[in-house]
Amino acid sequence: MFFHCGQAMMRCSITRRSSFDAESERQALIAGLLAPHAAIPPKYFYDELGCLLYAAICSLPEYYLTRAEASIFTRNRDDIASAIGSGKQMVDLGAGDCRKAAEWFHILQPGRYFAVDMAEVHLGHSLGRLAEEFPDMEMTGIILDIARGLALDSDLERRPVTFFYPGSSIGNFTPKAALQLLGQIRLHCQPPGSGLLIGVDTKKDAARLDVAYADPLGITAAFNLNTLNHVNRLIGSDFRVDDFRHVGFYHEVMGRVEMHLEARRDCTAHIDGRVREFAAGERIHTENSWKYARHEFEALLQQAGFNSVRCWQDDAGDFCVFYAA
Ligand code: AVJ
Repeated sequence: MFFHCGQAMMRCSITRRSSFDAESERQALIAGLLAPHAAIPPKYFYDELGCLLYAAICSLPEYYLTRAEASIFTRNRDDIASAIGSGKQMVDLGAGDCRKAAEWFHILQPGRYFAVDMAEVHLGHSLGRLAEEFPDMEMTGIILDIARGLALDSDLERRPVTFFYPGSSIGNFTPKAALQLLGQIRLHCQPPGSGLLIGVDTKKDAARLDVAYADPLGITAAFNLNTLNHVNRLIGSDFRVDDFRHVGFYHEVMGRVEMHLEARRDCTAHIDGRVREFAAGERIHTENSWKYARHEFEALLQQAGFNSVRCWQDDAGDFCVFYAA
């Protein structure tokens, strides 16, 4: 599919991977809700309103991650760019509005840009806008859930590639699954000069993490609860948002933030022809966000097969940016 952006036909297309199967996604979601320990995968945060709420979270004073990463990028732009080198194809994992990647276009001159995301509508809009701004770049949107594998062989050219995975989104994977994903990225990095630029949130004081994920304005609560409306639309269930409350906290022993939706009272939801009862206090697990000490993530990158790892941090050590080659 090609988009007409302005007067010119931009080199901008969108493809959907066959591994993406709406019906099996639906079945997995239903099974998760009917399970004894109910869970909804974090990808269901991001409907249209969810994307807006996530953007609002990134502006919260308590949610330091986005600002810390942006300040590391800004302060070290030249240094990071010279570690990466220019003129390589670029793959943006979880691209969203593609804004973070676009900030690197001038200095990295990728020539070819692949934006990978699960949300087709958003990707189409973002790429269309970007294509007008950067008419000389070839842009491809790939609709793909990277948790199901990095099927990019048919897209990537046999030349150096830069993977870009900012925002500590890797934190949604268990360390084991993260290692697998990093290993897959490493396999795509065979052409010399390839590498991965990734942002990772660090372990820190529990009180700061608690409030970053349970902010006093209630934006994160709205973000979490909005999942119920999204799920209702997707599978025709009848969750009532006001039956649940937001719970978000740092689990120091597990090294991860957990988010849950906790039933305020005994309540029920109709799910795919069945009645699911929730007892007061029962929780639906909606997200894990793993945190890594710098050395822990360096070790993970090395285990995944990267043999050169560089790291940039903010002064407070709140966040890490790695370039692994
Ligand atoms: C998009 C996964 C990086 O874990 O911090 C923000 C999502 N959840 N507030 C994160 C999120 C609650 C975010 N990631």
